[in-house]
Amino acid sequence: MNARQALLRLGLSALLALTAVAGLPPEATAAREARMAWWREARFGMFVHWGLYSGLAGTWQGKAVGTRGGMEWIQQRVKADTYEYAHEAIPRFQPKPGFAREWARVAKQAGCKYVVFTSKHHDGFALHQSATTDYDAGDVTGRDLVREIVDALRAEGLRVGFYHSVIDWHHPQYDYAAAEGLPHPLAGRSFPNGPRDHSLYLDYLHGQVRELVSNYGTVDVLWWDYSKPGAEGEFWRADALVRMVKNHQPDIIMNNRLYRIPHIEKEDSVDRLKTWKPTEGDFTTPEQTVPSTGIPGVDWEACMTMNTSWGYSDHDDAWKSAEQLIRHLVDIASKGGNYLLNVGPKADGSIPPESVERMAAIGAWMRVNGEAIYGTTASPLAEPGFDGRVTAKDGLLFLHVFDRPADGRIHLPRAVQSARFLGATESLNCERMATGTVISLPAALPDPVCSVIRVELR
Ligand code: GLC
Repeated sequence: MNARQALLRLGLSALLALTAVAGLPPEATAAREARMAWWREARFGMFVHWGLYSGLAGTWQGKAVGTRGGMEWIQQRVKADTYEYAHEAIPRFQPKPGFAREWARVAKQAGCKYVVFTSKHHDGFALHQSATTDYDAGDVTGRDLVREIVDALRAEGLRVGFYHSVIDWHHPQYDYAAAEGLPHPLAGRSFPNGPRDHSLYLDYLHGQVRELVSNYGTVDVLWWDYSKPGAEGEFWRADALVRMVKNHQPDIIMNNRLYRIPHIEKEDSVDRLKTWKPTEGDFTTPEQTVPSTGIPGVDWEACMTMNTSWGYSDHDDAWKSAEQLIRHLVDIASKGGNYLLNVGPKADGSIPPESVERMAAIGAWMRVNGEAIYGTTASPLAEPGFDGRVTAKDGLLFLHVFDRPADGRIHLPRAVQSARFLGATESLNCERMATGTVISLPAALPDPVCSVIRVELR
């Protein structure tokens, strides 16, 4: 080795040491903005929770486990080990041919731009054909369900996201005692198979994710789930995992749950939601809640169920109405966030009719009013000044009116060029005032759920 080579080698190892200490390299702002563009424009995605638990449908050995709450957690609720769980669940898991095309159609017709589905949930059952395990769809059903789903989504022009659980209730080396409060059906009990080596589980986790990001073409979103204080970030060897994923999928968008989890369903989690490093994820994920102020300055996506369970349940009839769902979508967009709305298909892959109906109702609304959702930003007004919400886009304001003001007048503190309902051609009467503009509404609004006025600003 000559002096020049020696210097080069020294420089290289110094660089390597630096990146190892400093974690992931920062990304230039322009590159990040370009990468996030489609996601911000999209505003609305479909979430799908589907796996072995779907066939149990909230029932364990003939008894309903409950009528509320996430039935994708059924293995944990009944404290079954993988053998008992798989024994009950596998015979019931019978995906019908072409199920994924129905998912894609439902999402597309609802106006979703992307679909995030469970490649593996906490139970550890992988929906792809994996060389790393026989606890996967390839071995159990003889099909690569991830491939079927990805192909169907792409055929409808939808972006593709994988929800992937780092928690794993099946892997024999998953060390559930390593951190306090890690959920596991056997938590508190000693390992049935002798001491565990968590690093072997991590090799497995990374190996499976490598398959997912290498074998299915472009993956648009990786939606990690989830970390616990004490089991965050490096507990999952997260930096290496992220680096590997980005090597295969340089434009992928990831949430930050590998590194931190929001305080579920707590509105006050906003502070925790907003304090993470950009290298730890692209967006944050309030769950079952819409932060009242939005989360200014960061990308966020609220995920929500239609009843109270993510995975299919036969016993949960607490369905939100289409009106509530449409108003959630509007509320979230008005605060600058995305809405990831969940469906939980049955064991045969069919989406429950209650969900299909609601998705169709959202789609009907979106066909008229989508312009007021896609590509919009948060309301620039402190208060809408009427019962509803506001979104904005290049010189336009969209007034989403939930209920007609009693006097039929909306006072907007802006100078207005013209205003009309989306889906209509006639302009609404606008009266210029010193304090802005008064828009007069007809006696009845065109849409009982939410009528949108498209306002061109002067
Ligand atoms: C939670 C739950 C889970 C669900 C998810 C969706 O972390 O563990 O069952 O998949 O969030 O946000």
